[in-house]
Amino acid sequence: MIDKISQTRTDFDNDLNKISNLQSLEEFRIKYLSRKGIIPQLFDAFKEISKEEKRIVGQALNELKNYAQAKYEELKSKLEAEEKTKKELSLDVTLPGRIKTLGSKHLITQTLDEIKSIFKSLGFSVYEGPELESDYNNFEALNFPADHPARDMQDTFFINQNFLLRTHTSPVQIRLMKEKKPPIRAIMPGKVYRNEVISAKSYCLFHQVEGLYVDKDVTFAELKGTLVAFLKQFFGKDVRYRFRASFFPFTEPSAEMDVWWQPKGKEGRWLEVLGCGMVDPNVLINVGIDPEEYVGYAFGMGIERTAMRKYGIDDIRILFDSDIRFLTQF
Ligand code: DAH
Repeated sequence: MIDKISQTRTDFDNDLNKISNLQSLEEFRIKYLSRKGIIPQLFDAFKEISKEEKRIVGQALNELKNYAQAKYEELKSKLEAEEKTKKELSLDVTLPGRIKTLGSKHLITQTLDEIKSIFKSLGFSVYEGPELESDYNNFEALNFPADHPARDMQDTFFINQNFLLRTHTSPVQIRLMKEKKPPIRAIMPGKVYRNEVISAKSYCLFHQVEGLYVDKDVTFAELKGTLVAFLKQFFGKDVRYRFRASFFPFTEPSAEMDVWWQPKGKEGRWLEVLGCGMVDPNVLINVGIDPEEYVGYAFGMGIERTAMRKYGIDDIRILFDSDIRFLTQF
């Protein structure tokens, strides 16, 4: 047994000298020190020998064990330290840094920001309402009676009998007039939804900006002046525009505004950008404002169309595609 112990120590030293990395050190540990390793096995054999032998052998065995453990630990910390410096040396601090590209605002957000800032400069404040709206605010209060054919103008996503995804931002007028006393001068931007066939011209979701001015003596001429001032700031002084008589249940009289659209290499045409008019007295009554005392004008415009006109885009779907090649152009 004593011979075996000293042979083990010789083998142990030889093997130890061959180790050059942490992986071979682990194999070495398993071979000598793990539960089934050579040294613990010697301890098992130790149980079988006679009492007289045990005293000498026990001492030698304990010495071997302590020696092996210490040598192992020593080499382990040496190899670990070496590995660490190797890693640090492989770090090239002279490499140029990685450039992080920043995203930018979506064209629709940019357009909305621009529209908001123009109207703010004209004395309008900004107000928002929910996208899930009551049938009452979206239609009824805006003078669309139940079963009135005007409801067919807007294909609605109904949630249930009383609630829907708003089809326009006009219901925010109702909320605002119920909440605040005139004078009221605000724009109301947001998303609207329509159950329409998706094509180059229309999408199931888009953005609108609603405008409302209610005071003692608001006139149609002021409405025109405000909208023309807006269009000139937004599209440039030379923008070609026209007013056309129209119909909306919540305004009387009503009009629409078109701007001239001239895509490169194609035939130009008039593009409708907004609806407007004088707030119908019935709407004022519905929100508890006396139409004998107050008058108002209102307007509503589609943001996608306006942006498409400004930037020469001819397919609305590209605004919802998240195609980075398109988005990075703005
Ligand atoms: N809500 C209308 C639509 O979505 C747009 C509109 C027209 C809003 C006339 C108005 C308005 O405030 O006066 O088609």
